[in-house]
Amino acid sequence: AGKGNITIDPLRMVAKEMKFLTGNIRQLLGSGHPSLDKAAKYYTQAEGKHVRPMIVLLMSRATALAPKHPCYNGLADSVNIDKPISPSVILSDVNPSSLSTNPLTNSQSTYSEEDSDILPSQRRLAEITELIHTASLLHDDVIDHSTSRRGSPSANIEFGNKMAVLAGDFLLGRASVALARLRDPEVTELLATVIANLVEGEFMQLKNTASDEKHPVWTEEAISYYLQKTYLKSASLISKSCRAAALLGSSDSITVEAAYSYGKNLGLAFQLVDDMLDYTISGAELGKPAGADLELGLATAPLLFAWKSNGELGSLVGRKFSGEGDVARARALVLQSDGLDQTRALAQEYVSRAIAAISHFPDSEAKDGLVEMAIETLKRRK
Ligand code: FPP
Ligand code: MG
Ligand code: MG
Repeated sequence: AGKGNITIDPLRMVAKEMKFLTGNIRQLLGSGHPSLDKAAKYYTQAEGKHVRPMIVLLMSRATALAPKHPCYNGLADSVNIDKPISPSVILSDVNPSSLSTNPLTNSQSTYSEEDSDILPSQRRLAEITELIHTASLLHDDVIDHSTSRRGSPSANIEFGNKMAVLAGDFLLGRASVALARLRDPEVTELLATVIANLVEGEFMQLKNTASDEKHPVWTEEAISYYLQKTYLKSASLISKSCRAAALLGSSDSITVEAAYSYGKNLGLAFQLVDDMLDYTISGAELGKPAGADLELGLATAPLLFAWKSNGELGSLVGRKFSGEGDVARARALVLQSDGLDQTRALAQEYVSRAIAAISHFPDSEAKDGLVEMAIETLKRRK
């Protein structure tokens, strides 16, 4: 992708910081218990897309140049985020050697040496964001009975449901410790709210009001319920971590709101595209099962738009596509309709709003990177 003849590569702009991301995350996840250690680090092995930490780092850099909060004293980042996390007392009692092998006992996170306009606390925020996301994937794959993730067997298949859930909980625990170390109550509150929002979004998805009826009829409410759910399950993490990045950089309130608005609109677009890809891309290319949403009884945007023009879908929604041939029928009706086009158009609208939200930021490479991230959201195939 390019602007004129200058190529914009968002990853290149934060490559130095991204290089240490996975190593630092794995360090945060060390446990003296070998099988917990293995399960907790499992999803850090395959290279994920790391979209969320990249956005946090780009937002940190882009807002570094924006106006500061009036109380800013130039000492934005004096906290020590690297105090070692003590290993579990009970485990080290059982097996004292785990103390010396626990990578957290002499924890020193690695960040690039060179001076950077991205603060250590903002880099740690990027890691926390990825940790929370990964925890939600561990739980999600249990809930969705998924069999693959990032091209490998999912954690629930590799370790079983119980260990996958506990590994997810462990990630949230370590993310919370890292968050507490930032010593910023507003940022702590934001990310704690994200965790609650993820659960609320997942609950809204499980208990869909429309499909609680046998023969639901289409109303605008179906779309607004879907969008509210989508905010909670996907956009909350991106938007609130963008907001937190700006807060850690002592940005003024206009910049903080702009960062939030960028993340919210990008997060909504991101999930709309995700729900489209579930219809249009093969499982082999996605690295996870395709067509999974209908199998799970889920009516996402493409189907909701198709339903608006074809009432037949109502009864299928009503029984969550559980009848013989329902999934194939619903899929065919969606593909015949303009549901996918309407979903793409809505995603495009959110991408435009994301870009507009940061248009007043001072010009910078990082700002161009954020714009490019938004544009690429529409083009992605996995
Ligand atoms: C992926 O969606 C899942 C999420 C974005 C959030 C899932 C949230 C929970 C399971 C609640 C528990 C949360 C925490 C913080 C532990 P998807 O199933 O549509 O995507 P997929 O195709 O990648 O599986
Ligand atoms: Mg899933
Ligand atoms: Mg799911």
